[in-house]
Amino acid sequence: MAIPVIDFSKIEGDERAKTLAQIDGCCEEWGFFQLINHGISEELLERVKKVASECYKLEREPGFKNSKPVQLLNELIEKKSDGKVENVDWEDVFLLSDENEDDWPSRTSGFKETMKEYRVELRKLAIKVMEVMDENLGLPKGYINKVFNGGDNENAAFFGTKVSHYPPCPQPEMVNGLRAHTDAGGVILLFQDDEVKGLQILKDGEWIDVQPLKNAIVINIGDQIEVLSNGRYKSVWHRVFATPDGNRRSIASFYNPSFKATIEPATELLVKKDEETPAKYPKFAFGDYMSVYVEQKFLPKEPRFEAVKAI
Ligand code: OGA
Ligand code: NI
Repeated sequence: MAIPVIDFSKIEGDERAKTLAQIDGCCEEWGFFQLINHGISEELLERVKKVASECYKLEREPGFKNSKPVQLLNELIEKKSDGKVENVDWEDVFLLSDENEDDWPSRTSGFKETMKEYRVELRKLAIKVMEVMDENLGLPKGYINKVFNGGDNENAAFFGTKVSHYPPCPQPEMVNGLRAHTDAGGVILLFQDDEVKGLQILKDGEWIDVQPLKNAIVINIGDQIEVLSNGRYKSVWHRVFATPDGNRRSIASFYNPSFKATIEPATELLVKKDEETPAKYPKFAFGDYMSVYVEQKFLPKEPRFEAVKAI
């Protein structure tokens, strides 16, 4: 089984209706899909891969060698334990946002310029994808983005980019690349390695690979879109496994609500043709949800909705 692949260029033209319907089906049944012909130039994507890999080699790899997961694994190996490293991930990661630009890696030539350019393009793609969701859900165009901006533009939505590497691991069965979780936020756009596998999603009780597809962008749904859609769209469990060879690169950009934004099932979806559907999720401030999420990221999401209701 493979994750569905959508030709996003078909969203304009004769096959628009069919493409919208395909994306709607992906959001309902998969929570994950890959976009090809998404409008981001291959030339830019090639540069992103190059600067990210160069940055890892120059600015990250030396630190990873002394990192917590490496130390913990070495301890287990020395003890000849057949246990597993718990509570940490075999991942090197840092975050890029508009707010922390002064702290971005600065020694890798072209890194900052290229990643800035990339983030501008990915942000535009996130907005396009959310507009497709608006339309598919029967909401006014721009609805999701407006909610994420706190209903006005004073509390701006958050756009972050996580640059991750999953370095080769001598004992991959003794660690997690990234423990299983659902994503907290809105829409996630992932640019994963062309070759090295690792990402899996839980589908009908089975873990299946998100197959590497050169220069595609993987889209997935976060918990907040699940709430807004009153459960029609689902955030899906995913994880990354560690591998003995290959340094998997993965660049995840996420478009999230402002911490001040109020999230609840869209009223338009609860009253349709005079029939009322009950709201399946509470109403809360996204910031409160995140306080719960930092404690419970690797646990099922349902108790998070319960916990946030009580705040
Ligand atoms: C994440 C995530 C997957 C990957 O950052 O939430 O699931 O492939 N990343 O890095
Ligand atoms: Ni995730």
